[in-house]
Order: sequence, then C-alpha cells, then structure tokens
Amino acid sequence: MKTHRFSNGDTMPMLGLGTWKSAPGQVYTAVKEAIRMGYRHIDCAAIYGNEHEVGRALSECFREGLIQRRDLWITSKLWNDKHAPEDVVPALQKTLADLQIDALDLYLVHWPVALKRGCVFPKSGQDLVSLAELPLTETWKGMEEAVQKNLVRHIGVSNFGMRHLLELTAQARIKPEVNQIELHPYLPQRELLETCEAQKVHVTAYSPLGSPDRPSGLVRADAPVLLEDPVIARVAQAKGITPAHVLLAWALARKTSVIPKSVNPERMRANLAAADIELDDADLLQIAGIDRHERYVAARMWTIPGSPYTEADVWG
Ligand code: A2P
Repeated sequence: MKTHRFSNGDTMPMLGLGTWKSAPGQVYTAVKEAIRMGYRHIDCAAIYGNEHEVGRALSECFREGLIQRRDLWITSKLWNDKHAPEDVVPALQKTLADLQIDALDLYLVHWPVALKRGCVFPKSGQDLVSLAELPLTETWKGMEEAVQKNLVRHIGVSNFGMRHLLELTAQARIKPEVNQIELHPYLPQRELLETCEAQKVHVTAYSPLGSPDRPSGLVRADAPVLLEDPVIARVAQAKGITPAHVLLAWALARKTSVIPKSVNPERMRANLAAADIELDDADLLQIAGIDRHERYVAARMWTIPGSPYTEADVWG
C-alpha cells in the first residue's frame, strides 16, 4: 500500500475505509472485517454518530492482537457546533473516549461553518454563527492546543476552498497538513488541488464513488450516477476491472488519498485491491473529459433562509 509521508516522517496509507453513513449495527463488523483484510486507515467523524461502535471494534482488534495501535491510521473530525476554541479539546476528548484510543493520528475541522453550541444541524438561520463572529483562526487555536496536549499528531481541515485554506495557512502556527474534500471525476477540483499542493497540504478525496447512499436531503432527482458513467464503464471494461476500481485508481493516480465507504465485506475487499491498480495516461485523459462540476455533498444545509452563509462563503 502506498503511503503519504508527512514532514515528521509519519505515514498515512493512501486508501482507507470511510465510515460516513455506516449504520450503527453494521460499522462494528465492517471495521473488524476491514482490519482483518488489511485496511490500515479508518476515517471517522463525531457527526457520523458511530464512533462509539468503531471504538468497540478497534479495542477488540487491539485486544485480540489483530493489530497494534501504531500500525493503524485513525482520522476524526471536529463538528461545527464545537468551533469555539475552548470547545475543541473537550470535543476531541469525547471522540477519543468513543474510539477508545489515547490519541488520533489526524483531526480535521469538518466544515468552514460554525453552528451554535449544542446545535447538530441548523433548523433556522439563527442556529448558524458567522465566521466574522467565530473565525476559523480561533477554532484553529483549539486544534493547535490539541496537538500540544498530545491528543493528536496531525491537524487539518475538510471542505475548505482556496480562500479559507489560504487565510488559515497564513495565520496558523501549526499549518494544516490535510484538506479532505469531495473529489471524483465529476468534481475534480483541479485548481484547489494545485493550491493545496503549493501549500504542502495533502488532499484526501471523499465520496470517491459518488456517494450513492448519501442522505435524501443531498439527493437531486436529475443528478448523474457516477458509478454508471459510460466513460468510466468503458475504461473498466477495457482493463477488466470494475467502475469502482477505476474511480479509486483515478483518485490514487492524482496522488490524493481516498476513503471509499463500504459495510459490505466483498466490496470492501474489492476496494482495497484498487490500491494496486494503475491507470495510464490515455485512461486519465478520457476521464478528464467527464468533469460536470457535480457536487453530491452540497452546502444547502448551511445556506438556509436567515443564514449568514452563502454558497460562495462556504466553498471559499
Ligand atoms: P455498501 O456500503 O453497501 O458497500 P462513497 O464512498 O462515494 O460515499 O460511496 C459509498 C457507497 O458506495 C455506499 O452506498 C456503498 O455501499 C457503495 N459502494 C462501496 N463500494 C462499492 C463498490 N466497489 N461498488 C459499488 N458500490 C460500492
């Protein structure tokens, strides 16, 4: 498995298991199976509502000697209602308690959007707090404190566009090392990728398969289905692999790490095998032609009436 090497020498496996939308009741088995079959990178978040169950699986794997903590990369994310600097360390401590570990490898600010403390999703515009009131640079102080306290080895961001990323990088004492964003051939975000590279920020691709199980609030009736794209199908057929393989190999070919979600052992195994698949320039050229600027994870939930955020504010 290829890895991303951070400046301190730590390495993160380029392909990990996503756990967004993995239902409690399923994610426990999925994580145990994943570790058994060779996954060494698990992507989590407090908002996924399943960290407690992921933690049960992890602690059993450690206890049973399937793996040692130092051989596993574990990421989690700070939810939007915990952006006040004094809320960051307690939020991280809750995640660590749920995951039953002493420290994370990577902790990300989940969105460049703040919510009132205790509000999980906004019901009205009043539930959102503007970045003028609670700047991301303030939240970042809490993230830096978490590093100082040895609760996490690396810190980064998620869903950050160029403006938010550059503003934060300019002011941060500890620079963000990762930006986890939606990336797939319908949303390749080339410019943002180049900016991240220039800033030495590693990029992780989420929803690499087009997130077919995304929540109904994010489903648009006329949205194209990435896994059924004819160009992807053609490349897959020519190589004797599946469309999912093509999508994951595409992400890896762009030097982004990638975190496909699955709770199905057969698909989990197949996805892991994509780490060894290489696409050639002709494949990449064909795939470059299907960009549709299609965001499956839209910012609508943050731009409800009365919200201080516009789409442009969110994506920076
Ligand atoms: P399941 O969990 O039942 O395997 P994304 O990572 O883009 O959010 O996509 C996750 C979705 O894609 C889930 O619905 C997952 O279903 C499905 N999925 C995961 N791996 C594959 C695969 N190899 N082929 C087809 N669908 C897949």
